[in-house]
Amino acid sequence: MWPLQPGYDYPRNQWYVAGWSHELNNQTPVERWILGEPVALYRDEAGTPIALEGRCPHRNYPLARSIIRGNALECGYHGFTFGPDGACVRIPSQVTIPAVCRVKAFPLVEKWQWLWIWMGDPALADPAMIPDHDEMKITSPGWLAVAALDRVLECRPQLLHENLTDISHLSFLHAATIGTEAVAATKVEVTQTDRYLRGSRFIPGETLTGFFAEVLGYDGPVERLVLIDFYAPSVHVALESFRKPGGEVIGEFRVHHAVTPAGPDRTNYFLAWSRNFATDNSQVTDIMNTVFEGVIQQDVDATHAIEQMIRRTPNPTELLVRADEHSIKGRRWIEELIAAERTA
Ligand code: FES
Ligand SMILES: [Fe+2]
Repeated sequence: MWPLQPGYDYPRNQWYVAGWSHELNNQTPVERWILGEPVALYRDEAGTPIALEGRCPHRNYPLARSIIRGNALECGYHGFTFGPDGACVRIPSQVTIPAVCRVKAFPLVEKWQWLWIWMGDPALADPAMIPDHDEMKITSPGWLAVAALDRVLECRPQLLHENLTDISHLSFLHAATIGTEAVAATKVEVTQTDRYLRGSRFIPGETLTGFFAEVLGYDGPVERLVLIDFYAPSVHVALESFRKPGGEVIGEFRVHHAVTPAGPDRTNYFLAWSRNFATDNSQVTDIMNTVFEGVIQQDVDATHAIEQMIRRTPNPTELLVRADEHSIKGRRWIEELIAAERTA
């Protein structure tokens, strides 16, 4: 789907965030659409999180509308019951259970407060491929990490990816909070490692005001470093680092954006953030949550508006500039992952 090559949507043999730890229990399953498939998420009696295909093979009833019986899901329509491995263990109207009566069980890993799901070939699901939560500064000592919010966006996933890899929009869409003119005016340096694609902006002279001054407790001149690390295909980590000119770091925060395609034209968005200053100050946490919620709503509105524009445009085009380098390289990376799967 445009702006990816025709027929390209998302790679499947990858880890994606399926939800938050706190969403799951052994009382009520949760339904989430991921890579075009319904998924029923719940916990077994031992508290282990489980992800089953969310469509009952009998009559297509949503399996998330089940009753949890011990470790199994009992479909709310006619009572077919499926164990945590997806095998049917009971059909109330007959003794024989055909072998084809089963649902897929997806590998699921709980890490920090995120549930990571693998929708592709289960034999390839290597948890070592999940982005390093220490490197992301989610679980590192000295950092406070907060599970902030989630949204379902009515837009194709690539629009959110390219919102995140093109932060020159901060200066305009988020001018009232986290954007200053210098962000868009500063050249982005793009570098690739084996783990992420980094867009880097160094702003040598800014004066902190507004939101930044309030949470950092400092309103003087700073050097500002802004990084976006794209761990393809599912997570973007943004770093904002502020230091006194030529001197000590005042404070840093990171925003962790998990982008999980719900389908070709819908997107699950999970947002966490972490900081290494005033980590015991709940007032700072409240301010950051409030500001990020407003910022994300602006991004949701923007990507919805672009999606509507594209859908009404027979042959969408775009006019790219130098600042789009990070987005285009990120787009190519996703296309390479999809192409590699097809070749395999
Ligand atoms: S639809 Fe699930 S048991 Fe009939
Ligand atoms: Fe934004």
